[in-house]
Amino acid sequence: MLHPEEVIKTAFPDTFINELVARNDIVDVVSGYVRLGKRSGANLFGLCPFHSEKTPSFSVSPDKQIYHCFGCGKGGGVINFIMEIENLSFPEAVAFLARRANMPLPEQENDRESKKRARMLALNREAARFFYEQLSSPAGEKARAYMAGRGISKATATNFGLGAAPDEWSSLEQAMREKGYTDYELFDAGLIKKGRNGGYYDTFRNRLMFPVIDVRGNVIGFSGRILSGDGPKYLNSPETLVFNKGSNLFALNLAKKSKNGYILLSEGNIDVVSLHQAGFDSAVASLGTSLTSEQARLISRYTNQVIIAYDNDGAGQKAAQRAIGILEKLDLKVKVLQMSGAKDPDEFIKLKGPEAFQMLIEGSENQVEYRLGQIARKYDLGVDAQKVDYLRESEELLARLPNAAEREVYCRRVAADAGISADVLIGEVKARRRRLLKRTEAASRSSPEKQTQPAERQYRYSDPASAVAEEGVIRLLYLDPALIRRGDLPAAEAFSSPTLAHIYTVLCRRLKAGQAVSADLLGAELEQGEVALLVDLLQKPETLSNSARALDDYINRIRQRRRAAAEGDDLLGILQERRKELK
Ligand code: UTP
Ligand code: MN
Repeated sequence: MLHPEEVIKTAFPDTFINELVARNDIVDVVSGYVRLGKRSGANLFGLCPFHSEKTPSFSVSPDKQIYHCFGCGKGGGVINFIMEIENLSFPEAVAFLARRANMPLPEQENDRESKKRARMLALNREAARFFYEQLSSPAGEKARAYMAGRGISKATATNFGLGAAPDEWSSLEQAMREKGYTDYELFDAGLIKKGRNGGYYDTFRNRLMFPVIDVRGNVIGFSGRILSGDGPKYLNSPETLVFNKGSNLFALNLAKKSKNGYILLSEGNIDVVSLHQAGFDSAVASLGTSLTSEQARLISRYTNQVIIAYDNDGAGQKAAQRAIGILEKLDLKVKVLQMSGAKDPDEFIKLKGPEAFQMLIEGSENQVEYRLGQIARKYDLGVDAQKVDYLRESEELLARLPNAAEREVYCRRVAADAGISADVLIGEVKARRRRLLKRTEAASRSSPEKQTQPAERQYRYSDPASAVAEEGVIRLLYLDPALIRRGDLPAAEAFSSPTLAHIYTVLCRRLKAGQAVSADLLGAELEQGEVALLVDLLQKPETLSNSARALDDYINRIRQRRRAAAEGDDLLGILQERRKELK
């Protein structure tokens, strides 16, 4: 598995970035590299330094303090311009511009923030050590018995750093105070809560503790399973300066070292622990949330193949369908495990053993098999009328398979299951595919999809109709930040473009925290290409006179496209395949 360098962007305070940008006027800075000649409207134009051209399509806006090339799509604020032209990282470009404007770098401020983080991480590590020690003390008796009952060995507990939160109100608080941490710090880290009488009490009591460790080895939070009595089965750390549930995965710190070549995605902490104990050391779980696109991005840094091993109930299967969509958007190969006779991986391994689980993995169904299986399950193939419906629904799926060989293989399989001749089915599917392509081409001729595509290939939209609306949501929020207070904003997972979803996530996070937005401020958290895409989409016209209404329209369009995609009606995808076939 890959071990990519983690991208850590130094956090400069917004005030510093704003001042830096104010003192490095973009027109002055750009003029050092490009001859800005003619003015057109509010913008200055020149020959683009990033691609070769004869007529100027590179524009600089003194009002907005951004640049944008209509030819190659590059764009951003002044920091992004320096990154691009001097080939520097974000902090390097900041330092470059600070030198240019004779500004000292804000070491103190910067230090304060990172010191706070470092201290919280140290506290978490101490807390994890405390819980771990309790496991072998009298206070850990119940947790030990529970682990024994669930078949978790001492070695596994050590590997995961499992621990025990005693059944007391302030044992952790006491221990951490002795180590020099204040209640204030403990509260910030989510380790204690405020009681009604104003006093504090331990968040985690009478629980088996799972530390959540990020890929750099930091203890960023905890998940605790109840041992007895009332209360939620699992309690997770709240969001803190260092913990964000939706962008971390339980056990990825271990799984990233696996040699398996795939990530096993399960639902429960206990499933993950059991899987590792049984030798499946690439298992991870999302932390009590359904899979987010940020988690999928994280996975895609380490592998290109994911095997989903969710619970065997309706909720699990539904969650699997959802996860498939999110993972496939990032070009990850996805397989789904079908466990029969057990409700989850933990139970399966206990009942049938690791070898049986390994066989499941080897035989795990790919996408097509899984979907065909889901269709077959709906019908009784012993009844002729139902058999016809089964075939019709399967044909629809088969006709959409991009690869001809794949179409034939699965046609033969479906035909055999339904007891009809393969040639008949293959003929049917061929005819259906022809109709589908005709319809799709007609649809695409009337849609202006081309001009909406980003210049950079890696960011190409798979569903331009939805992406246009996603761009609209981003544009409106950027231009009219008050809209962030609306309750019905779509989840980032509803976006068809992972890039736009990421821009949207970062934008919403800032707006919700009441922070300002600009290309330079967002540039600290986005990749250069993403900033360029943002600046590009901000150039497009927008109705601001009734922005709430405009936002409604965009949200509706995203929902519609999502429904259509869920029904497997992704015609544009087919068209793209068709174009490839024609080439
Ligand atoms: P499960 O209920 O399936 O838990 O929830 P599990 O880990 O398999 O545990 P056992 O086998 O029942 O003991 C799956 C995951 O959902 C989150 C946890 O991350 C859990 O591992 N969850 C569940 C919560 O965050 N809170 C809850 O109250 C329940
Ligand atoms: Mn479970």
